[in-house]
Amino acid sequence: MKKEKQKMNWENLEFKVYPTRSIWKGECKSSESWSSGQLVPYGEIKISPASTILNYGQGVFEGMKAYHSAKDRIVLFRPDRNAKRMSQSTQRLCIPEMTKDYFLEAVTETIKDNMDYVPPYGKGSMYIRPITFGITPSISVGPASEYLFIVFCSPVGSYFKSGVKPLNLLISKEYHRAAPKGIGNAKAIGNYSASLLPGLKAKSQGYNEVIYLRASNEDCIEEMGSANLFALSGKTLKTPKLGGSILPGVTRDSVLKIASEILGLQIEEGDLSIDEFLTADEAFCTGTAVVVTPIGKVTKDGEDHVIGNGDFGPITKTLRETLLNIQYEKMDDPFDWVFPI
Ligand code: COI
Repeated sequence: MKKEKQKMNWENLEFKVYPTRSIWKGECKSSESWSSGQLVPYGEIKISPASTILNYGQGVFEGMKAYHSAKDRIVLFRPDRNAKRMSQSTQRLCIPEMTKDYFLEAVTETIKDNMDYVPPYGKGSMYIRPITFGITPSISVGPASEYLFIVFCSPVGSYFKSGVKPLNLLISKEYHRAAPKGIGNAKAIGNYSASLLPGLKAKSQGYNEVIYLRASNEDCIEEMGSANLFALSGKTLKTPKLGGSILPGVTRDSVLKIASEILGLQIEEGDLSIDEFLTADEAFCTGTAVVVTPIGKVTKDGEDHVIGNGDFGPITKTLRETLLNIQYEKMDDPFDWVFPI
């Protein structure tokens, strides 16, 4: 099923919303299960001003990508992992859980109908955003009895305006991203609003983003809000362990597997101290949107710390390229991660 590509400026795609042809829309009552849904023309959706999403933030989302691959076909990357995380996030926010098959049908139907918006091979990727949220009008705090599930997509380029250059980050002592035993490990909409003010302040001072510390132990690095964090020292690649308020990133998991099984690195998931991070040979962040982006400089308590020599480290580069080569089917996929549509 091939469609001629849309006439767009494929050379200069930004990380922003470009409207496409259609979105998926499904509805579910809390007493039932997700079963129906269909594609509808791209456009606005109507919800009550008293809906639980608007009043109490009862909503979760996913972030995934489709790629026009070197094999001249459209593929997804580990969509089963997004389906699993969606189910974990919905459980935490008291939203009816959807089956993997329901989630995958919605995502694949959306991509099939908007295939001509997937950037040509080598020009970017198609960002996919499944969201589910409570729409019941309510002014008392409690879960909704009716929910919407929508999937929209947009062709995208690089997440950071600076492109894939080493980032300049600020360690925040003023704000935490998430509380212990809170919703930091769910892809809850509210987690991202918590990062808006710290992000704006950091950007106004010339930083690309903020590094958050663990709320229960400020000696430990947590994550960036938009991405997970990694530090490489010698042959050991370390990242904060899951189980607390850290988001279980699909790219995080993929990078750990590539590092250990292809690159032969020692991997460690544990407490990543600020000192370990600042003295690492290389540091980088991972996420669907950011892929693998190097970190060149980190500021803590007004003091700048250059990571390694401040450049795009060679291992970081290899990890990024290996991941992208698998995603774009430029190399064999030893893990069976690629999911053709
Ligand atoms: C992603 O990486 O896909 C995310 O959902 C993070 C978001 C801040 C862009």
